[in-house]
Amino acid sequence: RGAGIRVDRLLTPEERRADLVADVRAGLGAERRSLPPKWFYDTRGSRLFERITELEEYYPTRRERAILGSHALDIAEVIRADTLVELGSGTSEKTRILLDALAKTGTLRRYAALDVDESVLTAAGAAVAEEYPSITVHTVVGDFERHLSSLPTGGRRLVAFLGGTIGNLLPRERARFLRTLAEHLAPGDGLLLGTDLVKDPARLVAAYDDAAGVTAEFNRNVLQVLVRELGAELDPDGFDHVAVWNGAEERIEMRLRARGEQTVRVLELEVTFADGEELLTETSAKFRRAGVERELAGAGLRLRSWWTDPDGDYALSLAVK
Ligand code: AVJ
Repeated sequence: RGAGIRVDRLLTPEERRADLVADVRAGLGAERRSLPPKWFYDTRGSRLFERITELEEYYPTRRERAILGSHALDIAEVIRADTLVELGSGTSEKTRILLDALAKTGTLRRYAALDVDESVLTAAGAAVAEEYPSITVHTVVGDFERHLSSLPTGGRRLVAFLGGTIGNLLPRERARFLRTLAEHLAPGDGLLLGTDLVKDPARLVAAYDDAAGVTAEFNRNVLQVLVRELGAELDPDGFDHVAVWNGAEERIEMRLRARGEQTVRVLELEVTFADGEELLTETSAKFRRAGVERELAGAGLRLRSWWTDPDGDYALSLAVK
């Protein structure tokens, strides 16, 4: 089978737990209570997110898949990369579309994926190695905000950061991420970025507050992660799911709102939520082309191509160094 799979572990389970402990202390101890959205994705959270991508109201995944289907060959022919680097594990069909396009141009020789979830990453790496026996596969268990230095070097790389996940970063975090990523790119390398776009707030809110309540379960799951991984004492069902459009910041905010007074005991903390008090669990920024172009330029990357679905709901951009 292939040239084998290389696995680098830059984030051990112990370090991941230490990160969670630090985020809980910082986030629950603060005046405005919050938790970083990366903690949604334990096994149950990842499974709930897979279900979200299939919901009628949650259009981004379908739109991005359609844009990729239409433009993967353009992307491959422009970049002619020999390495596809995916931030976030390549469990999705989108990875195959890109790999096939790069294989068709004859340049593909390596696939690398960086993700925090080792089990998902290992499965994705093995599947790619099986389906593309001639390429080398390199998986990195790490955090895309901290471990970009582990990306494979040499050759020409196309870094794919799909799914709109960049929208979870705040503006300053995005600037730092893009600048760090650009520092690790060589002239000719490309970044393929998926961004959800500003649109009718009613459609945006519906995408984060589906009728079936799957997103509500996904949101509440972060409290269950505290119970499972830190032994927290709390009642997840004592919190209501809230999804709101923050027009000033042009982002969806997901929160958990205490129904009646709720006490959360975790680590050495005992946190009391007053009735109606909220925990911010995710911000999901929605973009405009000019803003994406400006943020890429701020990192020294030039926007080379911008593709949207016919309705203009979502965009893929190809930027080059
Ligand atoms: C995977 C981060 C892109 O922000 O739309 C889906 C996660 N949150 N429904 C997003 C999510 C609520 C999703 N990302």
